[in-house]
Amino acid sequence: MTAVPQSTDASSEQLPLQGLPASAYTGADWYEREQRKLFARTWTCIGTLDDVPAPGDARPVLVAGRDLLLVRDENGEVHVHNNYCRHRGHPILKEPASGLKRLVCPYHAWAYELDGSLKRAPHFGGVGEHQPDGDSSTVPGLKPVRSAIWHRLVFVNLDENAVPFDDFIAPLNERWSAYDFSTLQRGASRTYHVACNWKLAVENFIDFYHLPAVHKGLNSYSAMQDHYFIRHDGLFFGEGNDHYAPDDAAAGKLPPFPGLAPELMQKTEALCLAPNLLITVFNDNLRAIIVEPMGPGRCRERINVFFVGDAATAPELESVREAAVSRFLEFNNEDIEIIETLQSAFEVNGYDGGCFSPYFDQNIDHFQRLISTALEEPS
Ligand code: FES
Ligand SMILES: [Fe+2]
Repeated sequence: MTAVPQSTDASSEQLPLQGLPASAYTGADWYEREQRKLFARTWTCIGTLDDVPAPGDARPVLVAGRDLLLVRDENGEVHVHNNYCRHRGHPILKEPASGLKRLVCPYHAWAYELDGSLKRAPHFGGVGEHQPDGDSSTVPGLKPVRSAIWHRLVFVNLDENAVPFDDFIAPLNERWSAYDFSTLQRGASRTYHVACNWKLAVENFIDFYHLPAVHKGLNSYSAMQDHYFIRHDGLFFGEGNDHYAPDDAAAGKLPPFPGLAPELMQKTEALCLAPNLLITVFNDNLRAIIVEPMGPGRCRERINVFFVGDAATAPELESVREAAVSRFLEFNNEDIEIIETLQSAFEVNGYDGGCFSPYFDQNIDHFQRLISTALEEPS
């Protein structure tokens, strides 16, 4: 069993005194540039396989202002297409749907197979002159979007020249190679609409400086001083703790990852996979928060908790799962209260970027540099 590497050496020598100013969190211009220069050019998590659990399930998703459709076809395969028709561009679906046999455009009834290929363009050549079924020589199918699946998470990249997903994710696979994620199943999910810029949700997640003040309960068994920094430049950054020992009703009652070395039983690592996936691994579950920007001062957190094997569904473990999830949500609610208050303050106070701690704010600094660099790229 490969041990997880210890903390990355995170130098603090080049820290600036200030972070991003309030306008980066409140301005429409910043927001628009982030969408166009960052989210349109990177691998972004859009959801989980559990969002479309059965054949014929489909769910619209917005990435960098592009309307996409996550679909599971009749063979169980998951696809991501553009969610607009090849005729006049009308959206195919506006809401999640189930039990679909075809994707039918509501405007002139062009029909596509679930895999995106054209099924029929009625009266395309004139009244009664239908485009023959499956003939895409003249009429194309829905445009496919580059997508990839990492365990139960689905990623897309709108940039056709971007690095292949396997190369992109390789450093994280290496870091967490001791964990066998092959039997993960989603045991819980929640969606929160949060009144703050998406960056505040990310920055707060990688900040363990606030543990004693905001999460007294959590800090009692995952103390600030036990944490170490993790950083893989440009890809992921966050924190870890080798002495995580929760005292809740779920502690030690869920099956751990198979074959996990004893020294990893008290380890947890929480990372932001840039730009907006917040993932935490424990000895018995993996948590993923997808932070979706919804406007300069709004985001949505889609929370997913995955357990090992049948632990996600076993009836005898229901109360244990509930205990694990409710403790997590309790801490997340404490975070949401703080970041919403921070956003309100940014809206009125004209915050200038403040004064960073050269030690505790080093990963926030790294994240902000990553954003700033992306925004400086030519259009
Ligand atoms: S826009 Fe879809 S069929 Fe015309
Ligand atoms: Fe927190």
